[in-house]
Amino acid sequence: MESVKEVNEEEGSLRGQAQVWQLMFGFADSMALKSAVELRLADIIHSHGGPITLSQIASGIDSSSPDIPYLARLMRMLVRKGIFTANDHPSSDGGDDHQTEYGLTHISKWLLHDSELSLAPMVVMENNPWQLAPWHYLANCVKQGGIAFEKAHGCNMWDFASRNPEFNKIFNDGLASATKIVMTAFVPQYKDGFDTIQSLVDVGGGTGGAIAEIVKIYPHIKGINFDLPHVVATAPDYDGVSHVGGNMFESIPNGDAVFMKREAEESEPPSAVNLVGGGREADTHEMTGEINLMVSSERSGSGQVGRGGFDEEEEQQICSSTGSTSRSDANLIRI
Ligand SMILES: C[S@@+](CC[C@H](N)C(=O)[O-])C[C@H]1O[C@@H](n2cnc3c(N)ncnc32)[C@H](O)[C@@H]1O
Repeated sequence: MESVKEVNEEEGSLRGQAQVWQLMFGFADSMALKSAVELRLADIIHSHGGPITLSQIASGIDSSSPDIPYLARLMRMLVRKGIFTANDHPSSDGGDDHQTEYGLTHISKWLLHDSELSLAPMVVMENNPWQLAPWHYLANCVKQGGIAFEKAHGCNMWDFASRNPEFNKIFNDGLASATKIVMTAFVPQYKDGFDTIQSLVDVGGGTGGAIAEIVKIYPHIKGINFDLPHVVATAPDYDGVSHVGGNMFESIPNGDAVFMKREAEESEPPSAVNLVGGGREADTHEMTGEINLMVSSERSGSGQVGRGGFDEEEEQQICSSTGSTSRSDANLIRI
């Protein structure tokens, strides 16, 4: 007879094997999510104002001959992941048959394209083949160091975007959607800093959504959105915001304060305020997220970025994970 220890060992081993299978197909979750966004499944259900059947969903898909069994399998997976609900109802002809109706959940509401706050563009951005390719270089990065995006594409992300308008749009739209969510939560709460400045430069501001949110709530601020030329070339007009193209490692426009928002890469929040060169003191705030506010050292300065200043950690926060390596100098307050 097997001992308890042996049974536990066997049970644990089988569970371990099941987990390997789950991990092996972990990508299927992302791909199902991406498909839901591409097919606009949440929008189709939303446009009916309530749960709808599979054939009603199919008729809303942009295709003259959608594959219904395929759609059924996709919906089954999305329901299992909690992205949609599925409830059986007696069919309308009064027979024994039941039909399933699919509805939205708190998850799928974030996938609506026309909603003011949506993660749909971010889902498309993070799951497009250009963004997924670098993940195949993870092991290679461990062995040899380097930057996965550059290994996959032969250049850094910004150069890649400058040469590839489709990627540029997917990337900028994705960032803009996530930024809108963050800024909507953040700006109304952060009163003191914005009350006292007249002009604000968002360095690496993408297509300008972040500074537009600030200016909307603090209209006395003159907003300047600064990013690489190929990014600002596609930026929409926003009231109170002007777009300036350039390279932040060469010069940045003048302003009372400089704002930088980026995706946080560090696992540990940085601990202190770093003021360089301007001789000003500032309150130390806990870092609450991914927003940095940099106060320019010379309000009347040329806007030229000096040399040195950031240590390597600082620089990494400014450069994205994609590997810009130039150094820059400014006064940085993390909030
Ligand atoms: C991670 S994105 C953040 C965009 C925006 N701040 C946001 O949070 O949505 C980094 C931005 O920095 C810009 N960028 C990268 N290198 C730059 C440079 N040398 N000068 C100006 N902008 C740069 C990119 O084009 C991109 O828009």
